Amino acid sequence: MVSDKLRLVAHIFTFIVPYAFTLIRQRISAIIHRQTYKVLPNSQIKTVVVIGGSFAGFQLVKRLTETLPTGYRVVLVERNSHLNYLFAFPRFSVLKGHEQYAFIPYTGLAKTAPEGIFCHVQDTATEITDKHVVLERGEKMEYDYLVIATGTSSALPSKVTSTEREGGEKELRGMQEKIADAKRIAVVGGGAVGVELASDIKSFYPEKDVALIHSRGQLLHSFGKRLHDHAISVFEELGVAVLLNERPKIPVDGNTLELLHGKEELFDLIIPCTGQRPNSAIVSAISPAAVSKTNSQILVKSTLQLADDSHPRIFSFGDVADTGGPKMARASYFQSEIVCQNILLLIKGKKDLKTYKPNIFFEGSIKLTLGKTRLVMYMKQNNGRELIIPANKGQIDLGVKSQWGFFGANVREIESESRDKAVAASC
Ligand SMILES: Cc1cc2nc3c(=O)[nH]c(=O)nc-3n(C[C@H](O)[C@H](O)[C@H](O)COP(=O)(O)OP(=O)(O)OC[C@H]3O[C@@H](n4cnc5c(N)ncnc54)[C@H](O)[C@@H]3O)c2cc1C
Ligand SMILES: NC(=O)c1ccc[n+]([C@@H]2O[C@H](COP(=O)([O-])OP(=O)(O)OC[C@H]3O[C@@H](n4cnc5c(N)ncnc54)[C@H](OP(=O)(O)O)[C@@H]3O)[C@@H](O)[C@H]2O)c1
Repeated sequence: MVSDKLRLVAHIFTFIVPYAFTLIRQRISAIIHRQTYKVLPNSQIKTVVVIGGSFAGFQLVKRLTETLPTGYRVVLVERNSHLNYLFAFPRFSVLKGHEQYAFIPYTGLAKTAPEGIFCHVQDTATEITDKHVVLERGEKMEYDYLVIATGTSSALPSKVTSTEREGGEKELRGMQEKIADAKRIAVVGGGAVGVELASDIKSFYPEKDVALIHSRGQLLHSFGKRLHDHAISVFEELGVAVLLNERPKIPVDGNTLELLHGKEELFDLIIPCTGQRPNSAIVSAISPAAVSKTNSQILVKSTLQLADDSHPRIFSFGDVADTGGPKMARASYFQSEIVCQNILLLIKGKKDLKTYKPNIFFEGSIKLTLGKTRLVMYMKQNNGRELIIPANKGQIDLGVKSQWGFFGANVREIESESRDKAVAASC
């Protein structure tokens, strides 16, 4: 019987080798592009506006700075001062002293971009029209192509509300304090966020009573049964109480949860991890038909253009869009390449565009933490076979500092925030 590890290695090998060539090709063309891109006067420049600079928008902007022809530039409209490294938010809602590393400066984007091709506007887009993006501060920004990568909203431990790093850090510290002070804690919602948080609380604070309360019979139901079984066995070992098929209302005031059959449970702290809401409102006004009535996601074609023939120059992808792909950063990375290529094709006047087909094995795989050092890799093959590889060598800080390099930033920049602000204001 072939082990899950061997199957994974075989998959990685068949995928990585051709993909490595693609990356090398992209690097070489980026170097040539940097030498050949020319700065033109503003009046002769056309603009691609990308709204949202998290995992999806960041990667697209990076690729556009490497590929847009002379005469085009990309403007990133992002309300946050820093990229919020969400992967670490559940861990840093529990573990103290690392939260500053979860906010990565956007300086990396400008570092390698040719002069004049990129700028970052820190603001919220409040409206879009056929030609403009309207910003909260009142400014109207003209676009030739528009990409909406506005993702989703939710509360901690998934996301912070502050748009500045200092505020975000403070919110994480606030959650750390609440958790440290509580004896009986309920985590409501057994998706990946709830599972990671419940296991972190119990493994960093074994003396606390932790309950994970989930609406369905299976935890992590967007993945498979083997992942549920594995999580359940880890929770048994850690001593986390798991209550399935329970959908309590989250109380506005008080700390009592009403469970099935009228049973009431009192906790010191209730933490909802009940999922994400798509930030699609700006599309509703310009194209109501392109927003799903059932899940509020932006409806797109397989070319990732808005599913509205009157707006062929507007694209959307990542967690806000109904792309057919998994709601994972890895998936948005692959989608960003389709959007980038299609914008370049439209600029060249081509009609035959690339289409997005999710590679479920890679894009839908998950590396899930299950407490301090435990983690599990999970993937599903096209034939439905589930692969599961548990390990016990995760880093306490999730290796967050090494992630800065991926976003072109240097962890030492944390001490020179003024430089960061100068780049953000350079538009
Ligand atoms: C806690 C947590 C851990 C996760 N861990 C992993 C993981 O380990 N691996 C993985 O692959 N995936 C992981 N995911 C999923 C992954 O984070 C998402 O798939 C990814 O963040 C989606 O990226 P996005 O850019 O589409 O949207 P988002 O990350 O939601 O970002 C949207 C961006 O748009 C900005 N924005 C929104 N509206 C506006 C506006 N009107 N004007 C200006 N800016 C705006 C926001 O400020 C934000 O920066 C995790 C998710 C969570 C919540
Ligand atoms: N390590 C990683 O890669 C990682 C880590 C975290 C998150 N992520 C990804 O990020 C995305 C968001 O994750 P998420 O956990 O926030 O959302 P999610 O996957 O939607 O999970 C939230 C869960 O909460 C349940 N729920 C909602 N209301 C409830 C209630 N009142 N009582 C009990 N349960 C309730 C939902 O069930 P119903 O559907 O029945 O309402 C759902 O299963 C996902 O795609 C996830 O895979 C990845």
